[in-house]
Amino acid sequence: MKRRIGILTSGGDCPGLNAAIRGVARASYSMFDTEIIGIQDGYSGLIEGDYRPMRREEFSGILTLGGTILGTKRTPYRNMRVIGDDNVDKVKAMKENYKKMKLDCLVCLGGNGTHKTANLLAEEGLNVIGLPKTIDNDIWMTDVTFGFHTAVDIATDVIDRIHTTAASHGRCMVIEIMGNKAGWLTLYAGLAGGADILLLPEIPYDIDKVAAAVEARAKNGKDFSIIAVAEGAMTQKEAEMKKKDRLQARADQNFSGIAARIAKELEAMASVEARAVVPGHIQRGGSPSAYDRVLATRFGVHAAELIREENYGQAVGMQGAEVGHNPLSEVAGKTKFVPRDHEMVRIAKNMGISFGE
Ligand code: F6P
Repeated sequence: MKRRIGILTSGGDCPGLNAAIRGVARASYSMFDTEIIGIQDGYSGLIEGDYRPMRREEFSGILTLGGTILGTKRTPYRNMRVIGDDNVDKVKAMKENYKKMKLDCLVCLGGNGTHKTANLLAEEGLNVIGLPKTIDNDIWMTDVTFGFHTAVDIATDVIDRIHTTAASHGRCMVIEIMGNKAGWLTLYAGLAGGADILLLPEIPYDIDKVAAAVEARAKNGKDFSIIAVAEGAMTQKEAEMKKKDRLQARADQNFSGIAARIAKELEAMASVEARAVVPGHIQRGGSPSAYDRVLATRFGVHAAELIREENYGQAVGMQGAEVGHNPLSEVAGKTKFVPRDHEMVRIAKNMGISFGE
């Protein structure tokens, strides 16, 4: 019996998406009779009926390729059941297109939002499997997501390179690392790159403490400091505000990014020269690291194994050293934040790294 598999990639891209697509495809072709339908630009393609049967050769030569051969878009979960000006019932359209494609199952590669919509579709009776990708590493019930370690390598390289220029000029360099809600990337890259101060969304900071840490280093003969700050970091005062008020307060300050604000504040407070550095989407670009190629392949092949067993409604993930799966319903809608008492936070503090608390 031929199995028809739909594949889509949704949300922000990351290195390893193509490696995972290839893993699903190669294992499926090798284990059972397969036809793969590629859905363009994530859920938006599923809603609009933008899909095409793929040829086996299309999955060759993509292991090392960054981005996604299927294209991606952000189609927010919160709007999935909202009928907009276009009058399209998105959930109905997705179900109809799934039927039109005669799919046996749909494999959704993405982050938290993608998993929420995948779960919605599973609740609507479709056969769905989720694969965890994101440089943020913030998906529930998986120790690691693909894309994360490549981004850690890139962000670490940025911190390494900043070190020499920071030391030459005796400056304080504030590097803004991606991660709006979770600080995993900042924590890992900050430790790997030897940053002196780490500011995470989960541990709101006090700018006086940050300035004090910079000055303490200067007193100890280090006239430069490296601050790795997650893009979603906030002050202790901001953390007490409702999101809406915080955004308004930031708009009133002409906020142009957390690193820029911190650099400006430190110049005024700590009598240091400071610069903000924002590597931005570079952290999501390029070829996946060897680690991510292996991880994405393992996740993709495990998805094919689930399809072989007709075990749907699952989210693939890694627990310890083992790739496995958990019900989509338990994974969707939760975010894996950095716990304040995480072992890596303790290690960092015990080696004198400040979290600006
Ligand atoms: O979710 C991954 C991520 O890279 C976040 O770290 C970042 O906040 C966001 O995507 C950026 O999104 P966009 O690609 O839409 O600018």
